[in-house]
Amino acid sequence: MTRLTRLEKLLFRLEAQHVCLDWAFREIAGRPGIVFEMGLGHGRTYDHLRTNLPDREIYVFDREVDSYEDCTPPADRMMLGEITETLDDAASRFGAEVVLAHADMGSYDRAHNIGMSAKLSRYLPPVLAPGAIVLSDLPLELPGTRALPLPPGAREGRYFLYRNEL
Ligand SMILES: C[S@@+](CC[C@H](N)C(=O)[O-])C[C@H]1O[C@@H](n2cnc3c(N)ncnc32)[C@H](O)[C@@H]1O
Repeated sequence: MTRLTRLEKLLFRLEAQHVCLDWAFREIAGRPGIVFEMGLGHGRTYDHLRTNLPDREIYVFDREVDSYEDCTPPADRMMLGEITETLDDAASRFGAEVVLAHADMGSYDRAHNIGMSAKLSRYLPPVLAPGAIVLSDLPLELPGTRALPLPPGAREGRYFLYRNEL
């Protein structure tokens, strides 16, 4: 198989991200619960979430705020700090109320990605509501969840999708 160029990797990841998010919006429609966005970055996916889920409480996690000014969450929805600590705090504060969790925490650093997958796999499960959907740019090993095939239009391996079976 031909090697994917960096441009193709980025293109296919963003394509899969967009398709998976739109699939998830339909999947959680009519179900109660809050939304977690992990990785504010410049706020691009946060902007997509708040636009498509205007009635949801969306909590955003990052260790810094470096977003476009018009894509910055309200202060009371911003969970600022190291993800292991803020997710741990969120589990005490909210319990298992998250119906949709989107993690966009990867980087070009392989060691970072391996560590981040392990952190999310450990700290995310306690906040997931029964049947919750998890989307991630990194593969996760989330106890109690089942990996799902990607929806049509998203290339396998470019994004990762899970449903909480508990
Ligand atoms: C790929 S960017 C997010 C991009 C964003 N979703 C967007 O669409 O603009 C990843 C973010 O994860 C944050 N991050 C990385 N490691 C973290 C950690 N250990 N704790 C909290 N945030 C972290 C970085 O600060 C960065 O903003």
